[in-house]
Amino acid sequence: MATRNVRKVCALHDSIASVYDSRYEGTFCQIHDAVTWHYLQEVIAVLDVRDAVIDVGAGTGYVSLDLLQRGFRDVTAVDVSEAMLGKLRRNAYGLCADAGDRLSLHARDFHDLSNFGDCSFAAAFCQGSALACTHDYAQVYTEMHRIVRPSGYINISVDNRLGSAAKVLRTGKPADLEQALATGSWHWYEGDRRMYDLHLFSEGDLMSLVSEHALEITRLVGKIVLPREALAGVEPQSPAFGVALQHCIRYATHPCLMWSSEYVDLTCRIP
Ligand SMILES: C[S@@+](CC[C@H](N)C(=O)[O-])C[C@H]1O[C@@H](n2cnc3c(N)ncnc32)[C@H](O)[C@@H]1O
Repeated sequence: MATRNVRKVCALHDSIASVYDSRYEGTFCQIHDAVTWHYLQEVIAVLDVRDAVIDVGAGTGYVSLDLLQRGFRDVTAVDVSEAMLGKLRRNAYGLCADAGDRLSLHARDFHDLSNFGDCSFAAAFCQGSALACTHDYAQVYTEMHRIVRPSGYINISVDNRLGSAAKVLRTGKPADLEQALATGSWHWYEGDRRMYDLHLFSEGDLMSLVSEHALEITRLVGKIVLPREALAGVEPQSPAFGVALQHCIRYATHPCLMWSSEYVDLTCRIP
């Protein structure tokens, strides 16, 4: 069952790799990205550019490209979609001529990271809801935990169940809402077509991962605390954009407001 879902995820991402980056442009995405990097900066700042780091479900390089630009010398990217990794490679060479020396790409299913030894990395990142593409996210998280060394970091960004209600309704599949909110079980749609199963994370799902691995939470961030609808018509250069951005950064960690966000970003440190 899980393997079939992975095949569906792979097929979709293979088919959209060339247009993937252009899908995430508008005001919501710009503010989402600014909030992401504002807080991810806290982890990256304590790493050394010589530290080995891994981008799990790397896609076209949302995290890997940033790390390469910052001078990291040992960046590993894992993704099941060869086409997404191909785009990542092209993006990387477009940014850094020596990308080939500093970036290693692995086309594989992230449920099994057994090609990497225990404690191989200083940090593992899994941004862009890659972890939501599986109901067996606990297995993937266990693998990420295994390959990160003590005192290292695990960062994930996933779909937040409560904050996803509007998104579920927007797809025009209101019948999905009850199950999505009760169990987190949902589906990715392209237009009207159901493509693969998706997991929407509750606070309890995330806290179970933390307690199961006895981790220390260093950051929990809601992305973003303003609803998508509130940003419709807000132009990136406008004063309203600046105000919205400030608000989203300041209240991203508010214990109540963050759980209304579409996405939640969790960073943990391994003791
Ligand atoms: C929504 S994209 C996010 C990509 C990137 N992390 C970002 O933030 O833009 C999800 C990525 O996870 C990858 N992915 C999903 N399930 C996977 C699996 N089982 N093994 C490896 N990669 C997977 C997909 O191929 C896709 O590239």
